[in-house]
Amino acid sequence: MNGTRVMPRIFCIANQKGGVGKTTTTVNLAAGLARIGQRVLLIDLDPQGNATMGSGVDKRSLTLSVYDVLLESADVAEARVASPRGGYDLLGANRELAGAEVELVSLERRERRLKEALAAVASDYDFVLIDCPPSLSLLTLNGLCAAHGVVVPMQCEYFALEGLSDLVNTIRQVHANLNPELQIVGLLRVMFDPRTTLQQQVSEQLKAHFGDKVFNTVIPRNVRLAEAPSYGLPGVVFDPSSKGAQAFVAFAAEMVERMRAM
Ligand SMILES: Nc1ncnc2c1ncn2[C@@H]1O[C@H](COP(=O)(O)OP(=O)(O)OP(=O)(O)O)[C@@H](O)[C@H]1O
Ligand SMILES: [Mg+2]
Repeated sequence: MNGTRVMPRIFCIANQKGGVGKTTTTVNLAAGLARIGQRVLLIDLDPQGNATMGSGVDKRSLTLSVYDVLLESADVAEARVASPRGGYDLLGANRELAGAEVELVSLERRERRLKEALAAVASDYDFVLIDCPPSLSLLTLNGLCAAHGVVVPMQCEYFALEGLSDLVNTIRQVHANLNPELQIVGLLRVMFDPRTTLQQQVSEQLKAHFGDKVFNTVIPRNVRLAEAPSYGLPGVVFDPSSKGAQAFVAFAAEMVERMRAM
């Protein structure tokens, strides 16, 4: 790809397993990309609203959110807000979004709503990052339909590979039926503790199975990343010198590098 490209690359950060680091990855990748000069839109597609809060935006005070966009009562351009310190734009979410799941079921083009809404702001961004909920729901499906690729954060634990197969199957089905562009961009090892033998073993298994689909960057377990959301800041902004922040900036650079090769 050359420098004249105007279309953003759209990525889902997805894993149906809960608490594996999706939101931490989305928020810090967004802030990391912003730091290296990329224009980023983060979409919070989880009714928990963690990415919204972690971007420094109070989910309870949102007047418009991704919910309004999915139900076509607002455009992305109206509903987005700036993350005050993150350096990127946010399309936020709150509990209201849980209702969208039910309301969308009876509507037409129900899994394509997000994709269609994003077309209008395509030229504003280099990257769109979608933080998915811990499920393979209609919300996640909207994310997968809109995306070019999926980034899968995972912990190197015993059942990690097993859990991956459901996600891989879903991605295959979406690829076959709804979005022929969709691919797994890569697996990101997160909350990694190199002193744990088991984690090293699982990490080796991952590389053996998935080869260069495993990102080179490894995100360590780092308490600063866990503390940052309570200050409404990405870890990358909260403590740029921490190991976790440095890893996410390195990951942002790796993503940019991979996009050039795609
Ligand atoms: N690298 C890390 N080091 C230390 N703590 C981390 C790291 N990554 C994530 N955490 C912490 O682990 C918890 C789960 O992370 P996170 O919220 O990002 O996961 P998630 O996959 O988005 O969860 P959910 O499935 O509920 O949406 C959070 O408390 C977060 O602060
Ligand atoms: Mg989350």
